[in-house]
Amino acid sequence: MTTTEQFLSAELSHAIKALYAQSAPDAALILQATRKEIEGDYTAMMFPLLKISKKSPEQTGEEVGRQLQAQCPEIASYNIIKGFLNIKLSAGYWQNRLTDIARTEHYGRHSPSGKTIVIEYSSPNTNKPLHLGHIRNNLLGWSVARLLEANGHRVIKVNLVNDRGIHICKSMLAWQKWGQGATPTSSGRKGDHLVGDYYVLFDREYKRQQSDLQAQGKSAKEAARQAPLILEAQEMLRRWERGDKEITALWQTMNTWVYAGFNETYRTLGVQFDKIYYESNTYLSGKKIIEEGLRKGILDRHEDGSVWIDLTDDGLDRKLLLRSDGTSVYMTQDLGTAQQRYEEYHFDEHIYVVGNEQDYHFQALKLALEKLGYPWATTIYHLSYGMVELPAGKMKSREGTVVDADDLMKEMIHTARETSQKLSKLDDMPADEQQRLFTTIGLGALKYFILKIDPKKTMLFDPKESIDFNGHTGPFIQYTHARIKSVLRKAAQQQLPVGLTGATLNEKEIEIIKILHHFPKKIRDAGDAHSPALIANYTYDLAKEFNQYYHETSVLHEPDDALKTQRLLLLQHVAGTLKTAMEILGIDVPERM
Ligand code: ARG
Repeated sequence: MTTTEQFLSAELSHAIKALYAQSAPDAALILQATRKEIEGDYTAMMFPLLKISKKSPEQTGEEVGRQLQAQCPEIASYNIIKGFLNIKLSAGYWQNRLTDIARTEHYGRHSPSGKTIVIEYSSPNTNKPLHLGHIRNNLLGWSVARLLEANGHRVIKVNLVNDRGIHICKSMLAWQKWGQGATPTSSGRKGDHLVGDYYVLFDREYKRQQSDLQAQGKSAKEAARQAPLILEAQEMLRRWERGDKEITALWQTMNTWVYAGFNETYRTLGVQFDKIYYESNTYLSGKKIIEEGLRKGILDRHEDGSVWIDLTDDGLDRKLLLRSDGTSVYMTQDLGTAQQRYEEYHFDEHIYVVGNEQDYHFQALKLALEKLGYPWATTIYHLSYGMVELPAGKMKSREGTVVDADDLMKEMIHTARETSQKLSKLDDMPADEQQRLFTTIGLGALKYFILKIDPKKTMLFDPKESIDFNGHTGPFIQYTHARIKSVLRKAAQQQLPVGLTGATLNEKEIEIIKILHHFPKKIRDAGDAHSPALIANYTYDLAKEFNQYYHETSVLHEPDDALKTQRLLLLQHVAGTLKTAMEILGIDVPERM
């Protein structure tokens, strides 16, 4: 489907040729959406055309405007403000766009691009449950994946589980010492929370040991290094790396608990993966890459045996790739994982959704892979996002620092129940359906509020504001959709026809068609920018415009049949577009609420 820019740009080019017997270069045909307060749909800049017209901007505008109107019946009027020609399209033009929309299957989505994109998101450590930061991560990952699919790309969603290392040994050790054999079943505690409890316990005891040592005269640094607990955890890691049977078995058991817990959280949140990578499998291939880099002379081995890459020419520093004792670091496994993924998928782009505290790590990873000679390294894109916080005093977990993902979702569903019971008439809805609805609204509020904000920005998640049925919120969009669906249900009960009739469109209807018409372009732009926020804000513009229209227009009570039939069609497409857009955000829209 051609966009209005493309259409007008062709008309403009035609007009210049007709007027001045010369072709304007594409770069001189500049069109923008007309500013809100000015009459018109698109504005053409005259300045780049003056070389061809050899006239003043005003005169050029007048001539071009007149020519456009003469040659093209779909241009209704024009006006000139300084060097800007504002063009207004006719109702007939927008009527044709409505026809396009009505006749397009999967409206908004683009045809297959042939490109494969791998997107990694979530990527938790296995020593504790997911928190609010992971929620932003998972929502971004899931919706960017949907967005890229809507742009026609083949998308592979992957997760990296950092399942080995000192962090998980801490939980394991504390469980061994103080757990008395507790399991998720025996304790009734969700697996990831149970393991997290022991991580907290380790930390508390470790801190106690450190202050004891400091009281005996050790420095803080010495105390941190010499506390018996940390020494034991380190010994446990060495035993793990040697493949010690007992430790491996404990590690497997506890990780299994954690995965069961994570899966439950993912299910509630509504995210999935095509493939899960485990650090315990990929760190070894990372070591192989490093050996090869040494052989090729790209990497340096220091006297103590540690291996480094020099990134100083590129404005970074020297980066450790392997410790002196041969054990691997965070970077090691990322080298291996990236290469494995390329071999499996031959991706055209690899996106990592990871918080901005790791900006430096991903700059270094990309550069290191480039230097090691992997041409696909240039396709790596770090989708970096800012911190998300809650207003003070809200739902802080026991440790007092992080907000637990499961607790927050539960709280949202609870609030949705309270709000809906106040605002909606749901008495005739079966209880299980009500419960599903509250989940849809609670999670819709959470997801929308987080996704409407540009990923780069630090944000405050305000649970109360997020669920306001009349605000810039998910529930507002959901409610708009449900409202339209209710009208369409009534129309169906009355067996009213729905379709294009060519009935004259009013100004408000044209406004709505304009917004609908922009949907495919919006999906393109949001995909290019890796930004679901553009889609979220789009749904708000559409819903707001629709509500104004619906407030002042009758649909079911419209006496003119042709108008009624076409209005129902418009409603159908507003609802359909809201649904598609919200689907991209990973948000369900209810049929009623
Ligand atoms: N597990 C890491 C953490 O919690 C994040 C992993 C990000 N992904 C990656 N490929 N390094 O900090």
